[in-house]
Amino acid sequence: MKILAILASPRGTRGNTGRLLDEVLAGAREVGAETEVLSLSTLKVQPCVGCDNCHKTGICPINDDYEGIKEKLLACDGFILASPNYIFSVTAQMKALFDRCNGLIHCMALEGKYAAVVETSGGGEDADVISYMERVINTLGATSAGGIGSPVAGVRTFPDEATLYGKASALGRDLCRCISEKRRFPEQERFHEAFRSRMSGLVDFMKEFWSFERDYWQKRTLAR
Ligand SMILES: Cc1cc2nc3c(=O)[nH]c(=O)nc-3n(C[C@H](O)[C@H](O)[C@H](O)COP(=O)(O)O)c2cc1C
Repeated sequence: MKILAILASPRGTRGNTGRLLDEVLAGAREVGAETEVLSLSTLKVQPCVGCDNCHKTGICPINDDYEGIKEKLLACDGFILASPNYIFSVTAQMKALFDRCNGLIHCMALEGKYAAVVETSGGGEDADVISYMERVINTLGATSAGGIGSPVAGVRTFPDEATLYGKASALGRDLCRCISEKRRFPEQERFHEAFRSRMSGLVDFMKEFWSFERDYWQKRTLAR
């Protein structure tokens, strides 16, 4: 089982979020997963330019690391989104990646995959940032197995660290169990259903222009 983590701190794996992510990944490895971390600090993902090419061809024409990340997301069994809280939201690096995923979102292309969220902050609003990342996971068609977040106590240290790390490794194990069991989350299934109808409707409305997404939804509807 392959778990891909996308870490969006500019401090990379040496930061606080990287530290908490380590514990989640250790949990996943305990139950046999193979893990890989993609640190956006060492990759180039430029902001979306709104050219709509992804909707027309399925490919982003910006020449950077996005298409490689996309291929890895499509190939993994489960993924983890990890970001520090930057002004009540994710970092600009993560937001740029989310915007570039617009084509994947229109196709809900990660349907069937499970994901988890890791977040750290200087002082709070952890739940807001976690819930934002979980919403993105759901719009990609994937299902969230849960999230973990915490304010820091110092450099790469957290209050009540033993309890936090225990919960983090449990989340890593649980993500893998969700994948093996194909665990169902009725509330997220309802979200998926409503979003599927919204996205397929949008693509149908734009069918004259967005040929890749039109063909994608047509094939999917036939396969269902
Ligand atoms: C530009 C910037 C914005 C931040 N905004 C917030 C914020 O709104 N709320 C908060 O609690 N912490 C905020 N922080 C603190 C970081 O979330 C915190 O230090 C985090 O653990 C950093 O993780 P990292 O070491 O993985 O980069 C901010 C830090 C930076 C550099």
